[in-house]
Amino acid sequence: MATKSKSSKSRGTKKSVTLSEMPEKAAAPKATKKTKAPATKAAPVETKAVETAPVAEAPVEVKAEAPVAKPVEAKSTANADLLKRREAAVARGVASAAPIFAARAENAELWDVEGTRYIDFAGGIAVLNTGHRHPKVVEAAKAQEDLYTHTSFQVVPYEPYVALAEKLNELAPGDFAKKTLLVTTGAEAVENAVKIARAATGRPGVIAFTGSYHGRTLMTLGLTGKVTPYKKDVGPFPADIFRAPFPDARNGITVDDALRGLETLFLTDADPSRVAAIIIEPVLGEGGYQPVPTEMLQALRAICDQHGILLIADEIQAGFGRTGKWFAIEHSGVTPDLITVAKSMAGGYPIAGVIGRAEVMDALAPGGLGGTYGGNPVACAAALAAIRAIEEEGLLARSLQLGETFRARFSEIGARTAPYRMWDIRGLGAMIAVEFVTDFATATPDGAFTKSVVAHALKRGLILLPCGMHGNALRIMVPLTASDAVIEEGLAIFEAALADAVAAEQQQIAAE
Ligand SMILES: Cc1ncc(COP(=O)(O)O)c(C=O)c1O
Repeated sequence: MATKSKSSKSRGTKKSVTLSEMPEKAAAPKATKKTKAPATKAAPVETKAVETAPVAEAPVEVKAEAPVAKPVEAKSTANADLLKRREAAVARGVASAAPIFAARAENAELWDVEGTRYIDFAGGIAVLNTGHRHPKVVEAAKAQEDLYTHTSFQVVPYEPYVALAEKLNELAPGDFAKKTLLVTTGAEAVENAVKIARAATGRPGVIAFTGSYHGRTLMTLGLTGKVTPYKKDVGPFPADIFRAPFPDARNGITVDDALRGLETLFLTDADPSRVAAIIIEPVLGEGGYQPVPTEMLQALRAICDQHGILLIADEIQAGFGRTGKWFAIEHSGVTPDLITVAKSMAGGYPIAGVIGRAEVMDALAPGGLGGTYGGNPVACAAALAAIRAIEEEGLLARSLQLGETFRARFSEIGARTAPYRMWDIRGLGAMIAVEFVTDFATATPDGAFTKSVVAHALKRGLILLPCGMHGNALRIMVPLTASDAVIEEGLAIFEAALADAVAAEQQQIAAE
């Protein structure tokens, strides 16, 4: 039956299955195969129920295929064909986690070019706290597109840039005057935060932490504390970057150990009077979703104040509601001097920024900051709408609630399916990860097993992304707007994929 798309039904918090209603072992769902997406614009399509609901007793949510306009360049409707073309045309260094090609997406669901439906727990790497194509974001971007799409703020400025800067200054922690610079990518934001800190302090040094990730440009790679695959073969990196130990509870590094490491660094390599900034992710992102303990952030603030060093919070992955607050560092009560932002700020549009103390942000002379595309007006409009959606739809509270759900469900699933495997469930708010090890006795990180869970999950219709130094943690970046029904469906697939990975491993052991 041709109906209006009901995909927006999956936004919000509609509850369809409670924990006690979940069967002991969820039925093993497979990725939902659909008929081909229609190629013509706004062609009405049949509304279909999910073919293989993961939980037999759960009320099945009606999924509708949103009308779709096929992009003019689209020639292939087979993943295999596109993979071949991709291999021939795209640089090998750009990896993709899933061997499928997107056709369209809505909130926490995505359909590939073959019409297969997936639940998206990866959110385009933490970009989609407000979901794929949030109606408010799409509407704002379209309205802006009808006016102008680019003038370059450095040639003819426009209000959306100013309005977004005003909003970010208001949201960022700190009871002082703030200013904002808008750029396009997270790495560019970090690059500029370093430039600003150097100009403001007249010092060259920057201290970053082990396990951190700050981007793929040369300065940000220098700051990033993980060699493979990011830093391999591309050095040397800029000078005056120093590394301090991250307080990694997982590996027995306490806050005291980490602070002693920093003090040692000051004695051995980095004269604190020559250090411009300390940069830290309040929750390690790529590094494994480890929150920085509050005492560590407080100590860093005190050390920075003592030595005239600026504290930069890299909130690119943790910001905009992921942890239940606008910025993860707010959980600690510590106020940084500069904050880098990107990703979920604009619900899928490329924009990033640096927010900071007004006098620090003004350190560079006119012309010292910027870039042709920085603060693109369509992306600014999208960001203002995404921020409004977070406010209006109570997504900060939703993040905390989702965090609790994931913690509870992961421990149930782990206990039921692979108790000796799930070493840790950690995070802040809905920035949650689960870590896998070979066994509890040795707690050896098991990246291969994690990879297998990811692959089996994809086969069953769930997109997952690993993280951590050993790739042995799975991080949850599902839109905060996802319905409870979709979240539960994803969790049931996760459990089935975990069981698949255990079975595959047992088969392999038996065959050896
Ligand atoms: C904490 C953090 N900083 C910086 C970056 C780099 O952002 P981008 O990929 O937009 O350059 C990322 C990206 O994952 C990140 O998670």
